[in-house]
Amino acid sequence: MDRIRIRGGRALSGSIDIGGAKNAALPLMAAGLLTDQRLTLTNLPALADIDTMATLLRQHGIAAEIDRAARTVSLGGAVTNTEAPYDLVRKMRASVLVLGPLVARVGEARVSLPGGCAIGTRPVDLHIKGLQALGAEITLDGGYIRAASKGRLRGGKVVFPFVSVGATENIMMAAALAEGETEILNAAREPEIQDLAACLGAMGAEVQGAGTDRIRIIGKAALGAATHPIIPDRIETGTYAVAAAITGGDILLRGARLDDLAAVARVLADAGVAMTAEAGGIRVRRANGALLGADAMTEPYPGFPTDMQAQFMALMCVADGASMVTETIFENRFMHVPELTRMGAHINVHGASAIIRGVPRLSGAPVMATDLRASVSLVLAGLAATGETIVNRVYHLDRGYERLEAKLAGCGADIERVGG
Ligand code: EPZ
Repeated sequence: MDRIRIRGGRALSGSIDIGGAKNAALPLMAAGLLTDQRLTLTNLPALADIDTMATLLRQHGIAAEIDRAARTVSLGGAVTNTEAPYDLVRKMRASVLVLGPLVARVGEARVSLPGGCAIGTRPVDLHIKGLQALGAEITLDGGYIRAASKGRLRGGKVVFPFVSVGATENIMMAAALAEGETEILNAAREPEIQDLAACLGAMGAEVQGAGTDRIRIIGKAALGAATHPIIPDRIETGTYAVAAAITGGDILLRGARLDDLAAVARVLADAGVAMTAEAGGIRVRRANGALLGADAMTEPYPGFPTDMQAQFMALMCVADGASMVTETIFENRFMHVPELTRMGAHINVHGASAIIRGVPRLSGAPVMATDLRASVSLVLAGLAATGETIVNRVYHLDRGYERLEAKLAGCGADIERVGG
């Protein structure tokens, strides 16, 4: 099983190309189920999750031809199988995003319940309630969600009790082929939602209000061909911004969009980190040498993203002073804490909040990763630690970070992947 070895203590400098957003690409690929025409996505990141989604779509019968050199995927075609099997869905929870498109396109779907994961039980009740509001009949049997509709889905009103990115995306895609108008209230507002809306619009759907908490969609009988560029990955951007800050370096993140990271930029500014739009990207460095303890609370967009919580905590481990990090989205997203503690961090967890007291230096150690963002927070800590850090279970990283060690080594990090 691959591991990553880091010898820390070097200030990183140089530039890193930011790739297409994983959490935009996955729903956009599921949108390929909505049309028998060709949907081409560009700026496609090379990630394990993208390959998993392509495998899932192919077994539904539609094309999912990835051109790695061109960074594109071609989608669309006839649906010949409406079942998403457990062995694929359990590998990647985002597989549940085929549920809405399938039942909207062909009137039926049988999708395995995704089950929980390391960061929480991750229910899909909001996805189910939303589709029922559009007329789908849903039953749960043997660990599968069975959805059916006699004829086309009907537009309706979907009111989410709390914000869900995936449920918003599932309903947007189903509504794009439903008869009449759908209104989604308390919709997620993430840039990835806006990107999906733009793509559905390019395919012929009428979508208004994406980016606000109220989205209106006029469904069409069929959606057409489109070519759509995937937005840059704001979480990859934030992750490498922390790499620059934690090592006291200076990195240009090429292709990154500062507007997508306003809450992160605000919190990093409190911590003494300057993020400035420059040369078609974002330049990141410490404003005046010191890292200061700052607080962060995760919230739905435009708040501080939960997917940046572990990375920010790693940074606060070596800041001057104390920091409080509160996780409000997932019930179990502090698994990086015991591993950071093994590297010498001072962290106390009280329920949904962690109090971090910064130390001058972390010390390298063998550490274990448990989910994508916890994994990368350990890499970030290793970059700043004295000595050698070995991060195990690197497959978590490959799900969401393309060429992580090459991008960091390109900025001077002493980092390599070791097999065995
Ligand atoms: C998306 O997951 C992202 N994944 C996650 O990124 C991200 O952390 C999350 O949104 C929040 O921003 C993708 O986009 C592929 P939610 P999603 O539905 O859609 C609860 C990463 O590291 N909930 O917004 O699954 C849920 O348990 C991943 O890239 C229900 O209770 O997240 C959570 O507590 C991790 N019932 C909260 O809502 C539901 O039906 C927000 O989840 C759906 C969700």
